[in-house]
Amino acid sequence: MSDTIAVGIITVSDRVSAGEYEDHGGPALRETCQSYGWSVAAEAVIPDDKEQIQRTIRAFSEQRCGLVLTTGGTGVALRDVTPEAIRGIMRVEIPGFGETMRTQSLEITPNAILSRSLAAIVDRSLVIALPGKPSGAVECLGFVKAAIPHSVKLALQVPTSC
Ligand code: MTE
Repeated sequence: MSDTIAVGIITVSDRVSAGEYEDHGGPALRETCQSYGWSVAAEAVIPDDKEQIQRTIRAFSEQRCGLVLTTGGTGVALRDVTPEAIRGIMRVEIPGFGETMRTQSLEITPNAILSRSLAAIVDRSLVIALPGKPSGAVECLGFVKAAIPHSVKLALQVPTSC
């Protein structure tokens, strides 16, 4: 198995998926992943819809993305359902990722407390839910980057349930 990590990036936003705003979060994460030497294998822009989020994560896992990043929908607005979508399909949550992202982000902005960012194992992928603000998503990814290769390796060893 090659050491490079295959990454799937999902921008979760009603407005971006409707074409009202340009996607900045997805491209910012793509550039960051590429700068880490990872390969971006799949990208999608979808609305804040629980089933679409679940379907897209599973499709990317099926396509062998060892790491799936979502950006957006981690806050407390009425349409923010990314954590619920992931928790509905995960095998196990890894709380240290969310704890680290919030703790480190609080040194940058007090509003980081509003993000319910998390990481979990879904099928054979490590899924990390990052905040929607592009700079926040990139910052949070940077805070947990060191733990990602080993976590992805463990996720890939998990047998599929069906
Ligand atoms: N984390 C970092 N590192 N930097 C940020 O700018 N923005 C916060 C927070 N986390 C932010 C951050 C804000 S303002 C919100 S509302 C929450 O993430 C949730 O964002 P989301 O609903 O777009 O996912």
